[in-house]
Amino acid sequence: MATRRRVLGAGLSAAGVGLTTASLLPALRARNASAVPAASAADAAVQLFAAPMPLTPVLAPVSTDGGTDTYEMTMRTGNVGILPGLQTELRTFNGQFPGPTIKARRNRPVVIRQRNELTVDTSVHLHGAEVPQSEDGSPMDTIAPGTERLYTYPNKQAHASLWYHDHAHHVESENVYRGLHGSYLLTDDEEEALPLPKGEYDVLIAIRDARFDTATGALVYQMSDRARTTLLVNGAPYPYFEVAARSYRLRFANHSNQRFVELRLADDGDMVQIASDGGLLPRPHTTKSLYLTSGERADVVVDFSRYPVGTQLVLKNTGFGAVEDVSQVMRFDVVRTAEDDSSVPDVLRTLPPLPEPTAERTVVLRMDEDGRPDPKAYIDEKLYDPTRVDARIRAGASEIWTVTNANTKAPHNFHMHLVQFRILQRDGAAPGPEEAGLKDTVRLLPGETVRLQATFDTYQGEYVYHCHMLDHSAMGMMATMKIG
Ligand code: C2O
Ligand code: CU
Ligand code: CU
Repeated sequence: MATRRRVLGAGLSAAGVGLTTASLLPALRARNASAVPAASAADAAVQLFAAPMPLTPVLAPVSTDGGTDTYEMTMRTGNVGILPGLQTELRTFNGQFPGPTIKARRNRPVVIRQRNELTVDTSVHLHGAEVPQSEDGSPMDTIAPGTERLYTYPNKQAHASLWYHDHAHHVESENVYRGLHGSYLLTDDEEEALPLPKGEYDVLIAIRDARFDTATGALVYQMSDRARTTLLVNGAPYPYFEVAARSYRLRFANHSNQRFVELRLADDGDMVQIASDGGLLPRPHTTKSLYLTSGERADVVVDFSRYPVGTQLVLKNTGFGAVEDVSQVMRFDVVRTAEDDSSVPDVLRTLPPLPEPTAERTVVLRMDEDGRPDPKAYIDEKLYDPTRVDARIRAGASEIWTVTNANTKAPHNFHMHLVQFRILQRDGAAPGPEEAGLKDTVRLLPGETVRLQATFDTYQGEYVYHCHMLDHSAMGMMATMKIG
């Protein structure tokens, strides 16, 4: 059982050492250590590791007739307790934050009735999914307030940890920030046959940042805000998670509007990465850090049996742009022993060989970064125009896209709808093992270039591609590809 701890944070923050609280935390904290600093000066009200990490509830279907799982969700305003003693008004799916998790199986369709009881347009996009254009939740294909629609997901693709979020033109950034995001875990026989940790030892950990008015609990939204300095894990600020001394599969997802995180155990202990956006990697890869830009997912197996019961292990963030004190994310508390018959096989999956490429094109991401008041963001020097087709792709084509971040300060990433792509090169070199699987979103730090290959052999129609720093896509960094 976790013991309550005295907070030193307010005093430390007042002394102006908010940015250095990380250095005060030993990597491994003894069970009854005396004090835990508050998260940061701005968030002195938030105590680190004071509350348990919520496990996001799995939504039950309203019907499973005819081999289809049918769900109902209502987007509505909800008041959720996030900060101690305060309520935060959010835009939610079913009043929950984050939205409920959907569990799906390959080749078993899912239908979701989405009702919009908010006062803004919404459009629900299933990120990473292979779906017909009509089901993609495109920016202009919106659900007006007071109306509803069905989305049908065929689930023909292989297993992957997907997520759903709003995508309505110009408001997606604020809608997602205010709570319209949740997870969709698609599995298949191939994944289930592996001896990886399962059940209660397979845990979704969705991370995002937020800025609160700490007096009222209200969420503050401003475009490109650098002060989103509260990290939420499954909706709770800086929680602890009690684990058994055995292996866990941790499914990390970055649902931040634009924050990049680099996750690392405080003792620099090994994590075995087994999956990325599009499911399992070909081979496991042992690493000390996991870089996730907004929208990316990655699964690791962590063997907590190497820690004695009683160990408290902080998960740190050492990522790009972690200039504020968001250097800690959560804490794992090893509280008991448990049996463990799981293992990580040397080969996780075999990806099909890449087809011969049939076309090549370039994409340049750039935004105004000279400090002008109303910065815009561009793809190939153009602002998003939903009536324009930017890339025409032949049905069945397999294309190499060379994507460059032309900025010198601003980071970006690059996300394509409809496809899971393969990364061929990062800055001229072969990608690392963490990028050797299927991806739908890829990091592009200032000046970086990534070559990727995508094959358009499923659905035809118009789909968007964009920077998944959603403030950037709302500033114009989005474009349309037309397949067929
Ligand atoms: Cu997460 Cu256009 O998507
Ligand atoms: Cu998407
Ligand atoms: Cu960007």
